[in-house]
Order: sequence, then C-alpha cells, then structure tokens
Amino acid sequence: MANITIFGTGNMGTAIGTVFAAGGHSVQHIDSDTSDQTVSGDIVVLAVPYAAIASIAADRADQLAGKIIVDISNPVNFETFDGLTVATDGSAAAELAAALPQSQVLKAFNTNFAATLATGKVGDDITTVLVAGDDAEAKAAFTAAATAGMTVKVIDAGSLKRARELEAMGFLQITLAAGEKISWTSGFAVIA
Ligand SMILES: NC(=O)c1ccc[n+]([C@@H]2O[C@H](COP(=O)([O-])OP(=O)(O)OC[C@H]3O[C@@H](n4cnc5c(N)ncnc54)[C@H](OP(=O)(O)O)[C@@H]3O)[C@@H](O)[C@H]2O)c1
Repeated sequence: MANITIFGTGNMGTAIGTVFAAGGHSVQHIDSDTSDQTVSGDIVVLAVPYAAIASIAADRADQLAGKIIVDISNPVNFETFDGLTVATDGSAAAELAAALPQSQVLKAFNTNFAATLATGKVGDDITTVLVAGDDAEAKAAFTAAATAGMTVKVIDAGSLKRARELEAMGFLQITLAAGEKISWTSGFAVIA
C-alpha cells in the first residue's frame, strides 16, 4: 500500500482519489481549508489550478523533497483560449521540476477529463493515463500505485520533456469539449 497526498478536492482531486483508493492506498486530501496539514504521502498529486502550483512548491519545498510530485495541470491561457501560458519550448511540469530540484516530478492525468478517471472509461475502453518523467523508479512507483485498483491503464510517454506534448494534448482536448465537438465525459483514448 502506498501513501498518497492529493492537493485539491475539486473535480480532479476527487476523481484521482477514487483511482488510488480503488488500489487500497491511503489517500490524504489537502485543500485551501486544510492547508495547515503536513504532507504525509510519498506520492503527491497537485490537483489544483496551474496558478496555485508555484506557491505550493515555494511554501512546501522542504516537505516535498524526496517525494514523487505529480503535476496534472493544463496551463491554458484562458484570456486568449488560443494556447498555453508556459514558454513555447517548456511546460508547467518543467517549471515545477525547476522549483523542486529535490523532488521527482512527473506529468500525468492532464490528458484525462475527470469523469473518465471517475468511471475508468473513455467510451467502451479503459481510461489510459499517460505519464512523463525523468526518473524511472518514480514512474514505476506511480504506475504501480495508479494501476493497483485496475480502474485505469498507465503508459510511459517518455522523459519530462514530453510534458510539453501532453500539455498540448490536454489543451486540444479542452478546446474540443468547449467547442462541443466532444463531451466532457469522453476524450482521447489509447488503443494499445
Ligand atoms: N477538470 C478536468 O477534467 C481536468 C482534466 C485534466 C487536468 N485538469 C487540471 O487539474 C487541475 C485541477 O482542476 P479541477 O477541475 O479539479 O479544478 P477544481 O474543481 O476547481 O478544483 C481545484 C481544487 O484546488 C484547490 N486549491 C486551490 N488552491 C489551493 C492551494 N493553494 N492549496 C490546496 N488546494 C488548493 C481547491 O480548493 P478550494 O476550493 O478549497 O480553494 C479545489 O479543491 C487544474 O490544474 C486543471 O488544469 C483538470
């Protein structure tokens, strides 16, 4: 059993909590009302808006050292709705890794709408989580924890540099749903 901490009790925090709880893991949730809690998990999921990540990293760098930190954000520029707010050759995950050099930062869950994590389904297919990161052991530990409940599959998408592509996918998927071309309960599926 792994100890998981999830920042955020919104759509994604709740849905990701069900994925880990299905695997029998202990799940601690921290939100704005409980932000005085100490992080107890070895795997920490930041299920918060992109804008909240920098301050959590700055305030908790010591507590997060040595832990696996999972960035799930889609740093969409909501003013233009025409791209991401991060550098064109960067990603939110790369920014987080730079802010937390003592942690193992992964990108995951950002290409999954919350509903597809809660149900474990995209259409008739099992939901697939794409994970990117530079630390093979961290990716293996994350994959084992996320798949223990057998509600989702996980595919290793490569190094943390691939977070750029995952964030572009996440943005594209949001534009499709916002444009009512797909529903918020569907999304990209991976047929392996
Ligand atoms: N929704 C999706 O389907 C989806 C899909 C892929 C990726 N994402 C990404 O997932 C992240 C969360 O999205 P969401 O839809 O779950 O948003 P949400 O429903 O608005 O939930 C956000 C959560 O973050 C918490 N929070 C905000 N600032 C915090 C802080 N400083 N410390 C602790 N908790 C804090 C909020 O708590 P309070 O309400 O108490 O402030 C709330 O529980 C975003 O980065 C988004 O880009 C979302």
